Amino acid sequence: MISQQTIDAIFQAAHVEDIIEEFVHLTKRGVNLKGLCPFHDEKTPSFTVSPARNIYKCFGCGKGGNAVTFLMEHEGLSYPETLRYLANKYNIPIEETALPEEYEFEKQERDSLYLINAFARDFYGKQLFETDLGKSIGLSYFKERGLLRKTLDSFELGFASTNRDELTKTAIQAGYNIDLLRKLGLTNDHDRDFFFNRVMFPIHNLSGKVVAFAGRHLINDKKSPKYINSKESDIYHKSKVLYGLHLAKQAIRKEDYCLLVEGYTDVLSLHQSGIENVVASSGTALTVEQIKLIKRYTRQIKILYDGAAAGTKAALRGIDLVLEQDMNVELVLLPASEDPDSYIKKVGVTSFRDYLDQEAKDFILFKTNLILKEAGNDPVKKSCFN
Ligand code: GTP
Ligand code: MN
Repeated sequence: MISQQTIDAIFQAAHVEDIIEEFVHLTKRGVNLKGLCPFHDEKTPSFTVSPARNIYKCFGCGKGGNAVTFLMEHEGLSYPETLRYLANKYNIPIEETALPEEYEFEKQERDSLYLINAFARDFYGKQLFETDLGKSIGLSYFKERGLLRKTLDSFELGFASTNRDELTKTAIQAGYNIDLLRKLGLTNDHDRDFFFNRVMFPIHNLSGKVVAFAGRHLINDKKSPKYINSKESDIYHKSKVLYGLHLAKQAIRKEDYCLLVEGYTDVLSLHQSGIENVVASSGTALTVEQIKLIKRYTRQIKILYDGAAAGTKAALRGIDLVLEQDMNVELVLLPASEDPDSYIKKVGVTSFRDYLDQEAKDFILFKTNLILKEAGNDPVKKSCFN
């Protein structure tokens, strides 16, 4: 736990205008600073920062607070995460009050798991950009799919080579613990790499730390699954993660809606085209925990799924959960055999946005229509809706 002295030092050092300036363009108005409110949509600035009182207040939407509450709201950070962010920014050493021994051990182990994943991310990144194999297989694959260097960098993509123990060996040489590599699922029981000959997609938590990986195979081999994922660990619970959320959160807040797609590559492709408020549920059916994550930023969700029947069913399963969380949900179905990535490539970003606007259907109506269609001419089934 962070000591009270450290907390006091952080509050003393944190100037609200310093913090907010990183996220909002502020201009001086008398003793105050003003800018466009990041919490609601507006054309004339009503978001006011008072350096003298060390607070902010929006006269449009009423939001207000101090540096800490701003970061918690704007960045979706928890209270301790915010304190650590500020301590780091102002170079304040964090003094921890001792935790009971077993917590201390768990915390140290979790920190080590994050470190190993960061090491693996860097390793796969180097493989992609700096090795012949990575360049000729991985990088050319990403290029073929139209992904630019900037996107590869933002999402920290990588490549796992055909060599089956390269990561494990390198990590052990660098002093990492084999048991922890196994706990993360990076190394298997025979001390070989779990991921090999795949392009690598790190999966991040809200603050951008790598919690797991997905690897996509490069050959269309029916025998191996297209994507494989790290197993669950103390830092990775797949039902609590949304792919891409760490890069989407600001745009979600700004646009006041979240676009939900199915695939990793759909997120990359839309993000690259300038649609940044996009996340993926990554193959799993949407969970309540994932919806709660979105709810930190907006109450509107547009679910964008493949036109195929399987997509429709998955979407419907998710939507019941969303309604329970009292969110507004719309559903957009893509033309048959398109996914968001293929469709935006086909029609371009402007038509894609138009399609989202025009085709968005209210969930209840959509579901009723679908069930009616399924019921067909069956008078018994049909009568349920009369
Ligand atoms: P690309 O084929 O690379 O464009 O990927 P995609 O994202 O379009 O894949 P697809 O539509 O086939 O699948 C959608 C999502 O389901 C993927 O992004 C994965 O999250 C998940 N998925 C697909 N195939 C597999 C698989 O074999 N194993 C696992 N674990 N997940 C998969
Ligand atoms: Mn695809």
